[in-house]
Amino acid sequence: MNPSVNKAQESPYLYLAPLRGLTDHLFRECFSTYFDGFDCAIAPFINPQRHSSFSNKHLADILPENNRNMLIIPQILHTDSDDFLFLCERIADLGYTEVNWNLGCPMPMVAGKKRGSGFLPYPDEIISVLDTVIPKMKLQLSIKTRLGYGRIGETAELLPRLDDYPLKEIIIHARLGKQLYKGSTNPDHFNECSNLTRHQLVYNGDIITIDGFRQLQEKLPCINRWMIGRGAIANPFLPSAIKQCADDIVVDFSLLRTYHDDLYARYASKLSGPAHILGRMKQVWQYLIVLFPASKKQLKSINKAHSLEKFEKAVEELFRSAQN
Ligand SMILES: Cc1cc2nc3c(=O)[nH]c(=O)nc-3n(C[C@H](O)[C@H](O)[C@H](O)COP(=O)(O)O)c2cc1C
Repeated sequence: MNPSVNKAQESPYLYLAPLRGLTDHLFRECFSTYFDGFDCAIAPFINPQRHSSFSNKHLADILPENNRNMLIIPQILHTDSDDFLFLCERIADLGYTEVNWNLGCPMPMVAGKKRGSGFLPYPDEIISVLDTVIPKMKLQLSIKTRLGYGRIGETAELLPRLDDYPLKEIIIHARLGKQLYKGSTNPDHFNECSNLTRHQLVYNGDIITIDGFRQLQEKLPCINRWMIGRGAIANPFLPSAIKQCADDIVVDFSLLRTYHDDLYARYASKLSGPAHILGRMKQVWQYLIVLFPASKKQLKSINKAHSLEKFEKAVEELFRSAQN
């Protein structure tokens, strides 16, 4: 990348991050009905199955009829080249032109099988997969990764080798796999990575406030593509505020309530049984609660709700407290 080009001057391109179990098509379609700011979403990874079982049911999250509001890019987790290519064919048949390869997932069940960030310590195998799949792929390929699995530098060492391949871009969550989602991000090392690749980079990790975003922009002047996950679930007004270069965020609680209730209704109509519906809504509230005063105490009342009635009552009280 050419560091002399200051991309911070252009309007930032924003991705909604894939969060499996959270940013599925029901969430994405609802979110984009009420909030602007995201240009595109990477869909959570498609669970690797034996290729014979990739029916439309397994691909429900990326079916075009379930994704009318928001531009999405499907994501795959395979490290077996045949399965990788088979799934890419299915994705291309659905009309997509791009796919994202997950080399970042840190979950032990995934990383322990040499998938996601667990594949990063094996750079020769990554290159071998690319050598096999790229000549046969109809889709453009991008990669989402981390700074390494167990060691800073794993991705930095891989990046120059990726210059040989026609990747659309590389999204880097500025943490190590072994950190999971904890500990601090490392934008300085991300910056070093940007000097080691000809590919376009996308920054990801802990963008949760406008000030924090501005600081990152100053630190990474040649980056203009950003990915936001938890920060947008916590504050759905954040992406549009970033896009509009706003100085602060005004939370419209009435709009937030409409969005919340619509999301709840969408989950209620598609998920089977109160346990699933409550599970989803409680996950959203783990993040959304930051917008509410006395949030810790109030999150307890949401988490304690074991029936839809109790959940609805807790939500009612929360919104009433915010509007007083
Ligand atoms: C519950 C959860 C599920 C996630 N699922 C995926 C996934 O399917 N694919 C992926 O590439 N990253 C996944 N991630 C990582 C996020 O996309 C993102 O890289 C990470 O949360 C850091 O960005 P943020 O601080 O803006 O949330 C997941 C993260 C969380 C917390």
